[in-house]
Amino acid sequence: MLVDGQSFQTVWAVTEGTARVRIIDQRLLPWKFEVVDLNSVEEVAIAIKDMWVRGAGCIGATAGFGMWLAAMEAAGEEDFARGLKSRADRLRGTRPTAVNLAYAVDRQLRAIGEVADREVAVRVSLETALAIAEEDVAACQAIGEHGLKVIEELSRAKNGGVVNLLTHCNAGWLAFVDHGSATAPIYAAQRAGIAVHVWVDETRPRNQGARLTAWELAQQGVPHTVICDNTGGHLMQHGMVDMVITGADRVSCQGDVANKIGTYLKALAARDNGVPFYVALPSSTIDWNLRDGVRDIPIEQRGDEEVRMMEGWSASSNEVGEVTLFPAQSAAANYAFDVTPARLVTGLITEAGICAAAEEALLSLHQIS
Ligand code: MRU
Repeated sequence: MLVDGQSFQTVWAVTEGTARVRIIDQRLLPWKFEVVDLNSVEEVAIAIKDMWVRGAGCIGATAGFGMWLAAMEAAGEEDFARGLKSRADRLRGTRPTAVNLAYAVDRQLRAIGEVADREVAVRVSLETALAIAEEDVAACQAIGEHGLKVIEELSRAKNGGVVNLLTHCNAGWLAFVDHGSATAPIYAAQRAGIAVHVWVDETRPRNQGARLTAWELAQQGVPHTVICDNTGGHLMQHGMVDMVITGADRVSCQGDVANKIGTYLKALAARDNGVPFYVALPSSTIDWNLRDGVRDIPIEQRGDEEVRMMEGWSASSNEVGEVTLFPAQSAAANYAFDVTPARLVTGLITEAGICAAAEEALLSLHQIS
């Protein structure tokens, strides 16, 4: 997508000179736009764990490139297979909920495992990383085209009036390699000349909505309003939301959706008010090995400092700073994701089309390899 007129993806490989992975450092947005180089598997692991990059698709693509570095590092060691596996485990262990991470690491292990020659293995790992990233871009583009149909229908029902969407967290291009999942239909609607407006949940504790989604929408000129996390239900009761659209970090084969904490409450409010609740995801986010998402999707718990503190831009020191929000002796808990049961989901928008959140419907659109 364009940033100040220049085209960017969230992660890419630098092959001239020392091989490295280049990312947009999302910790500094929306105040500073900076790209940084990751020179080793360990640096990639830290960037994923500490959320320099975040969002299921972006994490997956970054891990894919991390496995390219892993192949290079392991190629210099006596036991290549062992070196590769330990680095794969390190990357896989960084964040547990988004399945795209394990998808990318496992796909790389399969691809590299088929090659005996180490030099060829390194080349294959780069090709595989590029393929994962390119597929992510293509999937998000296709999601945009499919999701556009839903927005077009809503626009027609409103005689061309503004379609109000509500989104949670950041399922924009920063959460993928490009385009985004939940934002792709919005950008497609904008290109098609449909009037849209987006309610952006701030998304505590890390405020990905206020910081990242709002920044993206502003960059692309999409009308939007940032709201506190608790506002959506009120807006839905008063007819101010035509559609909720979110991304997903993992979708079980029966259509249960793990997404940023608070998504479930939006789905409940949407159901109570007859507002359609759509989830946009590339098929790499579907976990075909897991059925009951509420019971079995692992929910990441992060450090309590993310709840205690809030980051913001300090105009006086001209840098990102933190403020403390409540007494130090109070306990804090930080569940990063929740699971919305399939019954609350109106439809899943994938690169293959739109389907019900149900196993047969998902299987009819996707081939499991
Ligand atoms: O903790 P994060 O920022 O990596 O959370 C992931 C998300 O951005 C959201 O849950 C998003 O809606 C999923 S879409 C990739």
